Amino acid sequence: IMKRGEPGTPIQFGDVAHVLRKNIEQIYGDEPSVDGAPLAEGEVSSMTDGTAFLGLYQYFKKYGPVYKLLFGPKSFIVLSDPTIIKHVLKTNNVAYDKGLLAEILEPIMGKGLIPADNETWKVRRRAIVPAFHQQWLEHMVSLFGECSDVLMRKLEGLAASKTDVDMENLFCSVSLDIIGKAVFNYPFDSVTKESPVIQAVYSVLKEAEHRSVTPLPYWNLPLANIFVPRLRKFKADLKIINDVLDELIEKARISRVESDLEDLERRNYEKVGDASLLRFLVDLRGEDTSNKQLRDDLMTMLIAGHETTAAVLTWALFEISQKPDVRSKLQAEVDRVLGDRIPTLEDIKAMQLVRFSVAESLRMYPEPPLLIRRALEDHSLPKGTAGFEARIIRGCDIFISIYNLHRDPDLWPNPNSFDPERYLRPFINKEKYPEWAGFDPAQVTGLYPNEIASDFAMLPFGGGARKCVGDQFATLEATVTLAMLLRRFDFDFVGKPEDVGMFTGATIHTRNGLRMTPRRRTPSPSPVAAAVDRELQGLGA
Ligand code: HEM
Repeated sequence: IMKRGEPGTPIQFGDVAHVLRKNIEQIYGDEPSVDGAPLAEGEVSSMTDGTAFLGLYQYFKKYGPVYKLLFGPKSFIVLSDPTIIKHVLKTNNVAYDKGLLAEILEPIMGKGLIPADNETWKVRRRAIVPAFHQQWLEHMVSLFGECSDVLMRKLEGLAASKTDVDMENLFCSVSLDIIGKAVFNYPFDSVTKESPVIQAVYSVLKEAEHRSVTPLPYWNLPLANIFVPRLRKFKADLKIINDVLDELIEKARISRVESDLEDLERRNYEKVGDASLLRFLVDLRGEDTSNKQLRDDLMTMLIAGHETTAAVLTWALFEISQKPDVRSKLQAEVDRVLGDRIPTLEDIKAMQLVRFSVAESLRMYPEPPLLIRRALEDHSLPKGTAGFEARIIRGCDIFISIYNLHRDPDLWPNPNSFDPERYLRPFINKEKYPEWAGFDPAQVTGLYPNEIASDFAMLPFGGGARKCVGDQFATLEATVTLAMLLRRFDFDFVGKPEDVGMFTGATIHTRNGLRMTPRRRTPSPSPVAAAVDRELQGLGA
């Protein structure tokens, strides 16, 4: 049973034992380190208080871009260099699976794309990616606007009564409403009401976060599901959501309408009553997919695409509200392009600064701040700026610190400053990063800067084969909501910005909520509105 498994196959007990033995030999037996990585030691309070990514940043400054962390018997190699990370995520991605992350998420997402083993992943990725095609995304832009408009109306009321509110909560609600409609045509309507299903979604998310920061997987212990109240509740919440998803899948299967099918095939979304991803997956690709697999896919997208987008908006508003100069420029752009209409794709294209603010929020507060991998074979990493080629052994757990990458002053000058205009300026640092191609605005081919233009120094959606499938969806969504918000409101902090704090599980949340008071602003009129005004005045109206 102590035999190590074949390269590329799932990790076995023998592989785990081998990694453990090597660590013990290094620490207690004075054997040379098998990987060559320095051992990070020192103050570890942030490792357990919900800000582990900040602790890993301190270690990065002290130990460099490749170091080893030990938590009791477990060890992690932490990576923070763009060239090395590119190797893991893209060039040699077949040498890894999702390891620990898959173990945590499997009870919730089953064989959905995020935790899926490489075999299942290949089949489902091929089925799901085409669903996020250009015409569908364009169609979604109007859904983003409609759902954000409900939020605007709620804020109008709060502004009129000068009532403060937790904006983080509201952003979670609006992104839940959007993902529910977009993925399986379910009206959560959580901006305006509460329901047991909404409560269940939040509780399951909380449990997933709790598991991602709990070192001992007590939920796997025999009978724990029956005797631990927290786990009983988790099971009950999961059942509530699964029942809803099962019903929606069943309904979608029996209500295939031939005319809708034609329109779906021709991508005439304006004519289709229900243009959700579920319809696409069932109607056009669903014949040989089991209901359980579809449910795992939907659950994965519900969880992956909800709090992440809410966090982008939360941190964008947090930063913009502290930078009057940036806010004025953004509002001038929104006033000029948008007037008071709900944004179209063309408007989004014209609002570069709003788009780059979404990107800047993702750079400063990447969601999740760490990516997790487990090596499936023995191999060496490129040297990058580490100065040595780390030897990765099969079974070794890896943390890719996106937070470290995005806050590295040698990759991003003034990394702690919210500066959406940085994406207009090229930056290269051959002295510190000779193998890194730099950031080049001319290489931003889509609407948002990404890993291509930054040669893997910017990875808000990961990179390589397992890159996020919802990247465009999420960035367009956040741009619509942010633009509508800035057009109508200014926000005052309740208390000080420093009170907001950070806390992380899967995403970076605030520690104490983002409590703000919305104030209705009087926007400068749009060029169209101004022209109409002038004409009316000329007519003596
Ligand atoms: C994967 C971030 C929104 C669905 C990922 C990954 C990241 C990420 C970093 C890569 C994980 C890894 O390599 O381990 C984000 C952020 C979002 C967002 C920051 C919002 C701002 C969405 C949305 C959806 C979605 C809206 C779906 C509607 C997925 C899926 C995967 C994924 C299915 C797994 C892809 C695969 O393994 O093939 N996301 N995501 N995400 N995301 Fe997103």
